[in-house]
Amino acid sequence: MEIRPMEGPFGCTVHGLDLGAGVDQDTCRELHEALYENRVLVIKDQTCDADAYMTFGRQWGSPIPHVIDSSRMAGQPEMMEIGNTTERAKDELKRNSAAFWHTDQSYDADPATVTMLYAQKIPDVGGETRVCDTKAAYDDLDAAMKQRLDKLTATHLYGSTSGQDGECPTAPLTEAQAREVPPTPHPLVRAHTITGERALYGVAGTAMGIKGMQREEAEILIAQLKAHCLQEKYIYKHRYEVGDIAMWDTQMTLHCATPINAPSGTGTERLLWRISIRGKPVVYQ
Ligand SMILES: [Fe+2]
Repeated sequence: MEIRPMEGPFGCTVHGLDLGAGVDQDTCRELHEALYENRVLVIKDQTCDADAYMTFGRQWGSPIPHVIDSSRMAGQPEMMEIGNTTERAKDELKRNSAAFWHTDQSYDADPATVTMLYAQKIPDVGGETRVCDTKAAYDDLDAAMKQRLDKLTATHLYGSTSGQDGECPTAPLTEAQAREVPPTPHPLVRAHTITGERALYGVAGTAMGIKGMQREEAEILIAQLKAHCLQEKYIYKHRYEVGDIAMWDTQMTLHCATPINAPSGTGTERLLWRISIRGKPVVYQ
């Protein structure tokens, strides 16, 4: 296995690894460390099936069955099919339901730690994922701002920032789904559960308020932090090739899908298999 830094501001590519053959503990630890150091890993040239992919996913922790149960893959409830080829994706709102800046499961008390997307079909144009490094964004704040933010707790709610800032709106939850994800607090600056490093957490997507702060003041601060994070210097844009498994550290990043049209012939289909993980990788348990 060879891990090479990308040309962009952060991230690495991984070559010479075959998930179908299984990944031993030492190799897995190397991948964990590379992810925590670089925010993004893209494992190239994979051909493994969904079972082998899920086996790899479980080495990172516990796969999360998504609150939107209609997007779970048949026979693989902890995997989602993302893109424009599924029945669900005929609805534009659902097809582009990740085309806004967020981090996965920030609306849950036990949020995602890693998300991975395995590219099955990729359009000739578009279909990228952008990832923002919120640790670098935090590191660059001045000491007084860090001190202020370090004490704050944000409230997160699924869909609470839907359609803001020109981003695609989130498809609304059913009442039963909404009951599963009530408003949830997280520190605005959160320590990574493995490395202890601190980063701005979930400042886009689900943050709707800050404890002890007037609503308007909180919204202004959250908007400022989002704008600070979304500077080009903190963003990597991944253009997929079939066989890529792109993964990012959801504790120290935000990400955003590029909106996509319904397929209209050869070279326009997009299909990725998504696994989101919570908890600690097996080697750290
Ligand atoms: Fe996401």
